[in-house]
Amino acid sequence: MKDAPASESFIRPHLRKLAAYTPIEPFEVLSKRLGRDALDIVKLDANENPYGPPPEVLEALGSMPFPNIYPDPETRRLRAALAEANNIPAENLLVGCGADELIDLLMRCVLEPGDLIVDCPPTFTMYAFDAAVNGADVITVPRLDGFRIDVPAIVEAVQQQRPKMVFLTSPNNPDGSMIAEEDLLAILKLPVLVVLDEAYIEFSQEPSRLRWVLDHPNLVIFRTFSKSAGLAGLRVGWGAFPVNLIEYLWRAKQPYNVSVAAETAACAALTNPDYLQRVRDALVSERQVLLEGLQEIPFLQPYPSHANFILCKVVRGQDAKAVKDVLAMEHGIMVRHYAKKELSGYIRISVGRPEDSRKLLSALHGLCQPGGTGAPTQAIEKE
Ligand SMILES: Cc1ncc(COP(=O)(O)O)c(C=O)c1O
Repeated sequence: MKDAPASESFIRPHLRKLAAYTPIEPFEVLSKRLGRDALDIVKLDANENPYGPPPEVLEALGSMPFPNIYPDPETRRLRAALAEANNIPAENLLVGCGADELIDLLMRCVLEPGDLIVDCPPTFTMYAFDAAVNGADVITVPRLDGFRIDVPAIVEAVQQQRPKMVFLTSPNNPDGSMIAEEDLLAILKLPVLVVLDEAYIEFSQEPSRLRWVLDHPNLVIFRTFSKSAGLAGLRVGWGAFPVNLIEYLWRAKQPYNVSVAAETAACAALTNPDYLQRVRDALVSERQVLLEGLQEIPFLQPYPSHANFILCKVVRGQDAKAVKDVLAMEHGIMVRHYAKKELSGYIRISVGRPEDSRKLLSALHGLCQPGGTGAPTQAIEKE
């Protein structure tokens, strides 16, 4: 009998070249790796919300009436609640298993293998990742100083290379900067589908541009319950789309992409807007406290942010990866460091509770002391 082919040979060629995704570790895994109780870990690496959702969420999850029945494929209850809360017709809204699912779903509907998207790094890495999964190629238009998007370069890329999609993020992850209105309007004039990811919009002082999809047939907006609503673990993202486009997403999506638990939790969260506002206010005011604290650390240059995280350049000869490692291994404080070359000298710190900032700032001050934990200059752990 002939040898069976190696199982790898069945994989689609473009996926064989795909770099593995490096996920953030959850509490249970971290707890084992660091040898610390989960409650003793300060998790500031994934822009999660330390306060969690309103109490109504756990109550609703504890009394879900029909967990044995498949969920509503149209998430009617949640879309109606979102429509009401955001003054936008439910027919423009679609819910997914996180905004992550919607990025992939939209690409699956729009992109043929070999099509192009425009990505403006540094930014959320899932746009380039999902483009690769979908066999599309990425035109990279790097951000300018101060992380502003390079509008003339985007215009030129669209005119010359005819990409199908441009991905924009406001506030942008990892730096927290906003997209200026004139920049967005200039890009919306182009013959390209514009995806505006507003995962962190609740932490900015500016309103969401959700309703712009009613006037711009080439605009899509993504939102999420993961950040300001504290439901990252339940996986609920949503988007606003022009009606002519959303029809095809309905056809292509998995029927049961939002679980009963996810829809129940998101609906319950929306019943307590006062709680959501209090948590948002707490994180926004803590962001200022943290920014001022970080400005006092001699080897960090923090960037002002409109989101629930602060990007810091690590300067004065310190090694960013080593700072991250010392915080994790010696203090149980997780911050984000990047393997990518253009961000390897940076760390991103999520805004937590006041006690989280105190622990972090005290550990960072310790790193400055001669004879303290030691000024780190090289990495101690492989990422
Ligand atoms: C800019 C941006 N968009 C989308 C997401 C993903 O959101 P979700 O948890 O809803 O998949 C994230 C998560 O970190 C993000 O930073």
